[in-house]
Amino acid sequence: MCGIVAYIGPGEAYPVLIKGLKRLEYRGYDSAGIALMNGTMNIYKQQGKVADLENYLTDKPVNGNIGMGHTRWATHGVPNNVNAHPHLSQSGDLAVIHNGIIENYATLKEGMVLRGHTFESDTDTEVLIHLIEDVMQHTNLSLQDAVRAALKQVVGAYAIVIMSKNHPEHLIAARKGSPLVVGIGNSKGEYYLASDATPIIEYTRQVIYLNDGEIAVIENSELTVKNIENQIQVPYIHELEMNLEQLEKGGYPHFMLKEIYEQPKSILDSFRGRIDPATGEIHMRSIYEYEEKLRNIKRLMLIGCGTSWHAGLVGEYLFEEYARIPVEVEYASEFRYRDPVIYGDDLIIAISQSGETADTLAAMELAKQKGATVFGVCNVVGSSIPRLSHAGAYTHAGPEIGVASTKAFTAQVTVLALMAIAVAKIKGTMRNDRIRQLMLELESIPAKVEKALLLNDQILEISERFKDARNFLYLGRGYNFPVALEGALKLKEISYIHAEGYPAAEMKHGPIALIDEEMPVVVIATNSAHYEKVISNIQEVKARKGQIIAVVTEGDTKVKEIADYVIEVPETEESLSPLINTIPLQLLSYHIAVMRGCNVDQPRNLAKSVTVE
Ligand code: AGP
Repeated sequence: MCGIVAYIGPGEAYPVLIKGLKRLEYRGYDSAGIALMNGTMNIYKQQGKVADLENYLTDKPVNGNIGMGHTRWATHGVPNNVNAHPHLSQSGDLAVIHNGIIENYATLKEGMVLRGHTFESDTDTEVLIHLIEDVMQHTNLSLQDAVRAALKQVVGAYAIVIMSKNHPEHLIAARKGSPLVVGIGNSKGEYYLASDATPIIEYTRQVIYLNDGEIAVIENSELTVKNIENQIQVPYIHELEMNLEQLEKGGYPHFMLKEIYEQPKSILDSFRGRIDPATGEIHMRSIYEYEEKLRNIKRLMLIGCGTSWHAGLVGEYLFEEYARIPVEVEYASEFRYRDPVIYGDDLIIAISQSGETADTLAAMELAKQKGATVFGVCNVVGSSIPRLSHAGAYTHAGPEIGVASTKAFTAQVTVLALMAIAVAKIKGTMRNDRIRQLMLELESIPAKVEKALLLNDQILEISERFKDARNFLYLGRGYNFPVALEGALKLKEISYIHAEGYPAAEMKHGPIALIDEEMPVVVIATNSAHYEKVISNIQEVKARKGQIIAVVTEGDTKVKEIADYVIEVPETEESLSPLINTIPLQLLSYHIAVMRGCNVDQPRNLAKSVTVE
């Protein structure tokens, strides 16, 4: 996710851009850049935060009443000055800023290289602006028509703004799958463009939310909105009511809640462009560069900390079911200090949202020294863990600001499922029809997560009932044992209530002594091979007067008869059920923490990334 902002009007563009980029930094903060038009087009861009760009510009000419800015969350190409936006066309006449992912950029790029285009960056965005100019040169279309024609060739998501040296009084913007807001300024011909309303609200409350497929053209002080078929649209003008602080959270009271609700999109973005249910093909280039290695691995070790370690536990079930290889899951901090036995045909996968966790980094270095192949699953492009990995795959969850990890967890599980399928294909341990079935089910997950999020009001009521509990127990079996651990971690780290996750069967070996009428027990009892056993565990808790909060599959009748609270979630494959079942547990921990007056986004004693040992 990146942040884009643009201005055209009688005023100076630079102050609007730099302030707007600071407001959008929550959307991405690894590099930033601006383009300013004042007789010519000046492009300035820097790796680092917006403040670094601002410092760089202190002695540069930044006048001009037309401009655009971008703060990056890298998806293609590591964070550096070259990959920062804006990007220029072959001639340097056109400049673009972009939020989104051009999935077919490699194919488009190949065609243009054959037609003599040369590229400076590794980004998908640079390919787009070259394509637009290529279309102009081969068709004599106007700029805006060339933009439309080029976008018809694009597969993926975009919110873009384009400037042209040869059309200095123009701004052209378009969106599909990524948000773009047009602010209508108070002066004639004054317009603001941004990824959301936060850079706009202090100047105007009149905004237009562009729809997918629409293109906004501002020329000669007039705004025209058209659709991709060049038909003029009559956009609805909204009156903004929220205050600025709320808007930076997209209208949510906390980043954590916003990120919980972003999961339909973050899960989609994590598998988008990587699966083809029609053929069963997986598109994970870096994995297949190690195909021979993967064909012969004898053991997989998944390492991580906290939530990432929980994702690794789900990964253990995924890889053992799909790829039939033995898996060990290790706390990175334990792994690195015990002089582990590592063989050359071991594969290590390091899992990390931030890519900077000290223990995970140290564990990877140790594994590499001992000759293992090390992959990374990470959410921050260009962070230390991907740079240390032989290969890997990014989760495309977008920046996760809330200290409690939510969308990163489901994105990690999604990517681990894809990797497990990829290894299964290489080792021939899964039939293609089964792979296609899993891919089709994965495509249904975003909608099922949307549905699970509709449970919010019911979970609010349950939260009210248990917000003063002093202890919680979370129980799950199989794929949902790690979900029980994750649910317990969420609750304790933001509400400060003691909570423990256990394999449901393990309860009899001690924790059952804790059960009394004061003890809420969250049990994940969705359809699975363990269903009947979990029901027995619920009955054991009930026999000791424990309060049961059960997560069940929609339509369940058995658990309803014995549980105190039943949360019904959509059915899915057992191996993908962590993606759904974790949602109510995230909401439960969030609402209890809010009711207890805790600082949900920045819980006491915690940091978003533990870069110390
Ligand atoms: C999860 O909610 C916590 N914030 C914490 O356990 C986190 O998962 C852990 O510190 C690992 O961080 P990483 O994924 O960035 O490596």
